[in-house]
Amino acid sequence: LKTRVLVTELLDILPADDPRARHSRRDLVRINWVMRQQALMAHALRRLPPPAVLTDLGSGDGRFMLGVARKLARHWPATRVVLADRKDIVSTRTRAGFAALGWTCESRLGDVFDTLQQLQGGIVTANLFLHHFDDAALARLLALIAAHSDGFVACEPRRSALALAAAAMVFALGANGVTRHDAVASVRAGFTGTDLSALWPRENWRLAEQAAFPFSHVFMAARDV
Ligand SMILES: C[S@@+](CC[C@H](N)C(=O)[O-])C[C@H]1O[C@@H](n2cnc3c(N)ncnc32)[C@H](O)[C@@H]1O
Repeated sequence: LKTRVLVTELLDILPADDPRARHSRRDLVRINWVMRQQALMAHALRRLPPPAVLTDLGSGDGRFMLGVARKLARHWPATRVVLADRKDIVSTRTRAGFAALGWTCESRLGDVFDTLQQLQGGIVTANLFLHHFDDAALARLLALIAAHSDGFVACEPRRSALALAAAAMVFALGANGVTRHDAVASVRAGFTGTDLSALWPRENWRLAEQAAFPFSHVFMAARDV
């Protein structure tokens, strides 16, 4: 696991309404729970000042961010969330979930590189998303985030033997073939050490990057004021 290895993830190429894709998105909810991704994200975000807008890149069906919003709503009232994904898969139930918290939620359909060009400040998040990109694309993505936002938190798979062993066990959660493939692929494409800090543009930002128990890698960037 010395270097990142990228292969195409099956969920990315299946049509959004394919039953295997639906099953895999359900698996992802469980995997996020086992990995404590929502708790890790909420914990990192609380270290930043409440933003006017929170933009989640590769937000999928939005259920991940709704769980984070539920943990944060007490501290961050009436936040505007932008769910950025190239697939249109946010249900009315998920939208109602944000509304019930007093948050507003909008979808921004399309490639995240285009979405970021139009972004004007706020905090950006990414969950199980950055590992889809090779280092060259990631450097471009991170440069755009640094240019257009005030803070960034990413929760990604840790590229470790322990995480790889766990990814090989997702069948125990009832995961289908798509998820079993993508879980292992995600860990191989995941991060360790200062992988992401090394790709972040050298400007006035405070960076933090570390392993997070049990299987994750968290990167945080806050603009120095
Ligand atoms: C593994 S899923 C993660 C979903 C969500 N963050 C979660 O934790 O449940 C990755 C998502 O990224 C989206 N995606 C991948 N590349 C993208 C791109 N270039 N622009 C917009 N969305 C993209 C896919 O459509 C998919 O919904």
